[in-house]
Amino acid sequence: KMEEKQILLDMHKEAAKYFYANLRSLRGQQASEYLNKRKLSKNTQKLFGIGYSNMDFGDLYQYLLYKGYEEEHISKSGLVIPKKKGKGYVDRFRNRIMFPIFDVHNQVIGFGGRVLDDSLPKYMNSPDTPLFDKSKNLYGLNYARTSGKNQILIVEGYMDVISLYQAGFENVVASLGTAFTYQQASLLKRYTGEVVIIYDSDTAGTNAALRAIPILSSAGLKIKVVQVPGEKDPDDFIKQNGPEAFQQLLDHAMGAVTFQVSVLRKKYNIEDTEQKIKFTMEVAQLLSRLDNEIERDVYLQEISNDTKISTQSILNEIKKTQEFQR
Ligand code: CTP
Ligand code: MN
Ligand code: MN
Ligand code: MN
Ligand code: MN
Repeated sequence: KMEEKQILLDMHKEAAKYFYANLRSLRGQQASEYLNKRKLSKNTQKLFGIGYSNMDFGDLYQYLLYKGYEEEHISKSGLVIPKKKGKGYVDRFRNRIMFPIFDVHNQVIGFGGRVLDDSLPKYMNSPDTPLFDKSKNLYGLNYARTSGKNQILIVEGYMDVISLYQAGFENVVASLGTAFTYQQASLLKRYTGEVVIIYDSDTAGTNAALRAIPILSSAGLKIKVVQVPGEKDPDDFIKQNGPEAFQQLLDHAMGAVTFQVSVLRKKYNIEDTEQKIKFTMEVAQLLSRLDNEIERDVYLQEISNDTKISTQSILNEIKKTQEFQR
């Protein structure tokens, strides 16, 4: 099966070149304007190999046949889908901005495609293939791993990665729109000791960050979290406020526990006695998982100040939880 993998790698490289040239042709004019509108420089577009897939149904499919690839291999690439009626295939990606997904060796293993307007689905990605398993890869890691920075930023989307990279933050990856997996976390751990989660500042992003924390932590990574102000993502923010303002956000990144506590703080109204008790119990749960006693004490003091519940009774609650966990 080594041979099949090599064929699929070659085919993906061909496809990427095809989309790339297409963006720069007459047919790619609208797509090109779209990318200009989103402020991606020609150099950035080149670095990320951005391309365009045509309106037509089988352009890439025909091209790959013409290049001598067998139908069997083309069908396994995920670049085409079987026709609903009759034999043959049609292109999976049509009339979309194409983002090649690279592995850490800079080989194209899949694609993400974005529509040029507000139609749905906004993004389409390669399915799992012999080359591509989205739960085991991170978009942008091919660049982030050699960025020479001491941390890696984790964002949600393609455009976030590209936009931050263009602004000088080359140490950035995206989890390809899925829940963060343990495989992705341990992949990151090979290249860095510290990550900063910078997800979209909406409910979905906040929940995704909460779910990613224990996974990243179990891979032994130190975790920080940045909440982008307003209902925004990192791409929106940096375009509106510039790289210095983004650096400021990074400089003020929260520890993971501070983030978790702040989310709980918003969930409960601690003016209400019952909610205050629930809040404090949940915080005690969180703090019981902290190994560092000094760190735990800092939070303990803060929560006690906020709730006017004595540090002693919160600590007792923490101890109870810890015994239960053992
Ligand atoms: N995503 C996806 N399929 C969708 C929607 C989203 O795979 N139908 C993934 C993409 O990787 C996308 C990421 O989730 O980049 C984040 O989604 P979203 O915030 O909606 O998109 P943005 O990256 O902000 O895209 P844009 O700025 O182009 O609107
Ligand atoms: Mn999978
Ligand atoms: Mn979003
Ligand atoms: Mn966006
Ligand atoms: Mn977004």
